[in-house]
Amino acid sequence: MHEVRFVIPRQEINREDFASSAPDFNRRSEVMNTDRGFKCSITNIVRLTGQEKLFQLRIIDPTERSLFRFKPGQFLMLELPGYGEVPISISSSNSNHEFLELCIRKAGHVTTALFTIEEGAQVAIRGPFGSSFPMDEMAGSNVLLIAGGLGIAPLRAPLFWINEHRDRFGDVNVLYGAKVPSQLLFTYQFDEWKMINHINLHTIVERAEEGWTGRTGMITDLFEDISIDMKKTWAIVCGPPVMFKVVCSHLDRLGMPMNRMFVSLERRMHCGMGKCCRCMVGSTFTCVDGPVFDYWSVMNLKEAI
Ligand SMILES: Cc1cc2nc3c(=O)[nH]c(=O)nc-3n(C[C@H](O)[C@H](O)[C@H](O)COP(=O)(O)OP(=O)(O)OC[C@H]3O[C@@H](n4cnc5c(N)ncnc54)[C@H](O)[C@@H]3O)c2cc1C
Ligand code: FES
Repeated sequence: MHEVRFVIPRQEINREDFASSAPDFNRRSEVMNTDRGFKCSITNIVRLTGQEKLFQLRIIDPTERSLFRFKPGQFLMLELPGYGEVPISISSSNSNHEFLELCIRKAGHVTTALFTIEEGAQVAIRGPFGSSFPMDEMAGSNVLLIAGGLGIAPLRAPLFWINEHRDRFGDVNVLYGAKVPSQLLFTYQFDEWKMINHINLHTIVERAEEGWTGRTGMITDLFEDISIDMKKTWAIVCGPPVMFKVVCSHLDRLGMPMNRMFVSLERRMHCGMGKCCRCMVGSTFTCVDGPVFDYWSVMNLKEAI
């Protein structure tokens, strides 16, 4: 059988290293464990659209698997041997210690190669990296999750978190937009989110396709459908950078404080741990100071969006 070669250094596992969990929000992430690579096998692949697939990964070593922890909003460096590494948001529940899910869009060299692998293939991960959404601080308030296109991928982990702690939150609304209906991801989970978890899901597409009976327009049009007290609401906004300004300015006009709006920034990354400077915006490292930022900080970060 072809031997799989990993670039990521393998190290002896030290249980004490695992004791430090992921960082608290608004604190630069602790990077002490992130140099370690974990070998994983791909246990399931779901084709979501022509451009996106959901990969289910299982850390092969049972001890590493049971000790691996992350917080909603964090990302991994995913290595496909022979091709390279890419930063990808963790898209599954952080209470699931058996599997990790990554929703990946075919974009270039590594992600296109990932689209050719099959179940049983081996990959490696480093991480988790970066800051997370302040889920504990949000408790007791309403939450508004707003996603455009692939932005639903990083938004899934906080959504799972809310599902699992549903009684801690007030109204939970998800506004999700895509260019066309066939690009809406995770449609098979919509009913579960709405019916079991009392989440109000609102979808919209820019352009209808045959059979679409839902709304057509821009994501901000969906604000007409919700009536919540914005002063008692936190928002998580994930999507293309152009969406941040439009959506967050809208939320600002509706009265939501900017330090209660959270966005996840994407930059080219190499090390993921504050060493290579590849991801810097001014003096800010997107990989360790972010990727999750409150909108107030991002607004004051030159060229961030
Ligand atoms: C914190 C973080 C989380 C991410 N989460 C996800 C995710 O959950 N799912 C997902 O599909 N993608 C995610 N991405 C984007 C993903 O990392 C890139 O699509 C990937 O690195 C492209 O690698 P490639 O080798 O396939 O493409 P390349 O051949 O390197 O590049 C192909 C094209 O993609 C652009 N590109 C490459 N990297 C990035 C980037 N980081 N941001 C924006 N454009 C880029 C290039 O400019 C080029 O136009 C995330 C990025 C970051 C920084
Ligand atoms: S990716 Fe290397 S410093 Fe951020």
